[in-house]
Amino acid sequence: MKILIVGNGGREHALAWKLAQSPRAEKIYVAPGNAGCAEVAECVDLNLNNLQSVVRWARDNNIDLVVPGPEAVLCDGLVDLCRDSNIKVFGPAKNAAELERSKVFAKNLMRHHGIPTADYAVFEQFEAAENYLASREDGPLVVKADGLAAGKGVMVCKNHAEALEALKLCMIDEAFGQAGTKVVVEEMLVGEEVSVLAITDGKTIAPLASAQDHKPVFDDDQGPNTGGMGAYSPAPLMTDKLLDTVIEKILVPTVHAMNSEGRRFRGILYAGLMITGGGPRVLEYNVRFGDPETQPILARLDTDLVDLLEATADGKLSEIDLKWKDEAAVCVVMASGGYPGKYEKGKEITGLEKASARKGVTVFHAGTVPKKDKVLTAGGRVLGVTALGKDIPTAIESAYAAVKDIEFEGAHYRTDIGQKALKRLKK
Ligand code: AMP
Ligand code: GLY
Repeated sequence: MKILIVGNGGREHALAWKLAQSPRAEKIYVAPGNAGCAEVAECVDLNLNNLQSVVRWARDNNIDLVVPGPEAVLCDGLVDLCRDSNIKVFGPAKNAAELERSKVFAKNLMRHHGIPTADYAVFEQFEAAENYLASREDGPLVVKADGLAAGKGVMVCKNHAEALEALKLCMIDEAFGQAGTKVVVEEMLVGEEVSVLAITDGKTIAPLASAQDHKPVFDDDQGPNTGGMGAYSPAPLMTDKLLDTVIEKILVPTVHAMNSEGRRFRGILYAGLMITGGGPRVLEYNVRFGDPETQPILARLDTDLVDLLEATADGKLSEIDLKWKDEAAVCVVMASGGYPGKYEKGKEITGLEKASARKGVTVFHAGTVPKKDKVLTAGGRVLGVTALGKDIPTAIESAYAAVKDIEFEGAHYRTDIGQKALKRLKK
């Protein structure tokens, strides 16, 4: 089978790495990919702003399965275009990707179908939002730009004064462009966050191994949010009992709700949850593999990924048995100096071979480019150093040993990835 993965992050390298292990994968392409993808697949320089040309390339090159990575191409309708050209594709159609593209759509869906989430109001006029704040007792609130804002459109505000600033940023300064002209103002939830990723063909829903992300840039969850600075799997917070509740109250009703609205969901349904005293609540949905959660999740997957993605695309997920390694995996993200703010690119990365030679370690590339025989930095998140181990402490130790082998100017990373899991295991 010839497979085209679309995207250039750590998630896409992990997908390419895992798909390449399948005896059914005859040839894998990644568009545009990165230096790590180039080790396990062929990178092709396609323009993701022109999806028609991506699909044309796939047709001309007899691609059997397209695997889109990031949300943008799903929201722009890559799946629909592939289907129109009779190319098999793994992921939700544009009308189902709306679940991630629009926070207002997602919140309204949850409200109409009784899926637990924070209480909220939607505003299209700044004055109306301002009046709403004035009519309520002061307290913490969360302001969310409606559209895709590269993970930056959510502002957790301690009080109304901060919420007003956030509303100004979205609605008057238009800091997130069109995405922020509509906003959700919602109740702040308190608890611990965990992600649940499930794979579904719209009929069968199978949760993937649990994982926990680390969004803030610094240790102890300090500093601004990033795309994710590391992840581990399994997440001890996600007990079998809690997972049963999440399946019953969130995953199944979400897939049913989408079906009932004529937006059949196929692909990865990712629920970002807050585990509150009153049970799990949905913070957000994503319609794709998480990055970096995918790196430790796929490191633990034993099932053939080609079989899994193809069966889902064909509506035959019920025929697949998901199997996981009984080991833990930890992924530590190494980022460019300054990330998630401004950063420089083009720094030489050394020590990759030494790190990768360690037992159980795979260095997934995100923002990297090959240059002659060197690898240079090319993005904010640069590498996802991922280690498998018999348990979380062992995986943490191996991942950090490998991180210490690697150097590039300005490199920074969190030193506490996985510590939350350890604390919970000690309880
Ligand atoms: P989202 O993109 O909606 O997941 O929001 C990004 C981050 O903002 C989440 O991972 C949470 O840390 C935080 N967040 C979002 N909504 C809420 C909420 N209602 N209460 C508390 N924190 C939130
Ligand atoms: N790591 C969070 C995300 O993929 O959205």
